[in-house]
Amino acid sequence: MIGITGSPTSTSSAPLIVLEGLEGEVREEEVVLIENAVGNKILAVCRRGTGINDNLKVGSYSPGVAYARSTGSTPSRSKESYYYTLSFIGAIDGSGVKRNDLIVAPGSRVYSFNGSGTNPLTFMAHESCAFKGCLAERREWAIPFDLRYASYHIGVFGTTGSGKSCLARSLLIPLLRESGFGVLVLDWSGMDYAPYFKENTIKISEFKVDVDVVFAYIMEKTRKFGYRGEVSTLSELLEEVLAESWEGLLMNVREPKNVLQTLKSALSAKLAKQEGSKDGKWIGLAQKRLETYWRKLKPEDISHLMGTKPIESSLPKRGELVVIDMSSVGSYEKLAFFLSLSEVLMTKISRGEELSIALVIDEAPQYCPSEPKGLQTNATDRIKDLCALGRKHKLCLVLISQGMAGEIGINAAVRRNLNTQFIGQIHPLDMEEASKWLSPYGINIESLLYLERGNFYFIGKMNPSPTPLLISFEVDGDGR
Ligand SMILES: Nc1ncnc2c1ncn2[C@@H]1O[C@H](COP(=O)(O)OP(=O)(O)O)[C@@H](O)[C@H]1O
Ligand SMILES: [Mg+2]
Repeated sequence: MIGITGSPTSTSSAPLIVLEGLEGEVREEEVVLIENAVGNKILAVCRRGTGINDNLKVGSYSPGVAYARSTGSTPSRSKESYYYTLSFIGAIDGSGVKRNDLIVAPGSRVYSFNGSGTNPLTFMAHESCAFKGCLAERREWAIPFDLRYASYHIGVFGTTGSGKSCLARSLLIPLLRESGFGVLVLDWSGMDYAPYFKENTIKISEFKVDVDVVFAYIMEKTRKFGYRGEVSTLSELLEEVLAESWEGLLMNVREPKNVLQTLKSALSAKLAKQEGSKDGKWIGLAQKRLETYWRKLKPEDISHLMGTKPIESSLPKRGELVVIDMSSVGSYEKLAFFLSLSEVLMTKISRGEELSIALVIDEAPQYCPSEPKGLQTNATDRIKDLCALGRKHKLCLVLISQGMAGEIGINAAVRRNLNTQFIGQIHPLDMEEASKWLSPYGINIESLLYLERGNFYFIGKMNPSPTPLLISFEVDGDGR
């Protein structure tokens, strides 16, 4: 026994007055048991620890403070108390945990599970739950995750260095794999997953790229051959040449240097053909521009457009893991790859297939920021579609982001589709958004600014507890 409930109480929370001498035994975010004098047993989380001593109250005259100041010792502790606010998980009945519908009697006894060998979180688990990670304050207690709701999508939020990628590597990926999902990770920088899962990693440059991406890339690298407008004779001819010969080049000429040479010769030949029909001087200028700007294309630029693996082949089977290392190419190609990948997934969904795939998107604001631009607009729309349709086809999206809302966050329409949240240490700019999620449960929002790395509030559909739990996880020696 660690204390008794104080007053006032309700059906969802109650103050806990800690017994004298046990102040050092009870920790914030620990799970305890209330033996409600009215009849039932209730699991609850300790929140907002407070210590009060009326003799030492500052702000107005108090004999206790005067005594403490003059003697340097504390006055009587008779007016001292320590208490927590208990946020209820639910009432324990024979088969699990139910919503508590009885008022807790003030003065009910409260017990700790510490040292009992019992993980109180097992009371609320049912068949569709799997255990992973641990409660941050009691690392021997594993956390139940309700896998029925994995396809309701997951959001992971926290500042840089708060441990988001670690959470994905050490907890979410193993959890999803063990529960029958194939996990596909998009590693934007190639530094968060690829080095840890070398044998499961495929480089983005190995995949086949759509011809329109090749076209857009060449136009960008050659600065549109120096023309201001989007469309020029050279751009039109390039489109033609690529449509006619790109597939063939991939099959036959594997040397990037030769591919560049062949494309240039074909363009030059097409230009020459036009000489008769158009103003010769003008064609001469185009030839010169081709000569000048084509030099900006290096063999290594073109080599990562020459992959031949179809994207379908990257899709993991149940229980498998595939990491795509996207580090070798620019943002445009990364987003283009994502769009091709999502097209493959959408086709499968429209055929009514069950996917059993979890798609982990780290650095999600690169794909779907609050104000998407260029290809991000298409990526954002696609993520929304995948969220909406994926639910019925066992597709689980895991979006990982530094910020929640606003400039540093992810698109509001996408965010609405994430029904399970992991919230780690946050940026002060996000306090308002985080407070919408956590304040109703008595969590002190300022404490989110100092959360230790690797600690996350777990809230939402996958959490069998209605009140958030502060969870953590172990990192293996090799970082997984
Ligand atoms: N549960 C944990 N226990 C110990 N160290 C952790 C834990 N979680 C994260 N870390 C450490 O925090 C650092 C940053 O983690 P990372 O996942 O890269 O952060 P983020 O992706 O949020 O920027 C890592 O070097 C890792 O060693
Ligand atoms: Mg990271």
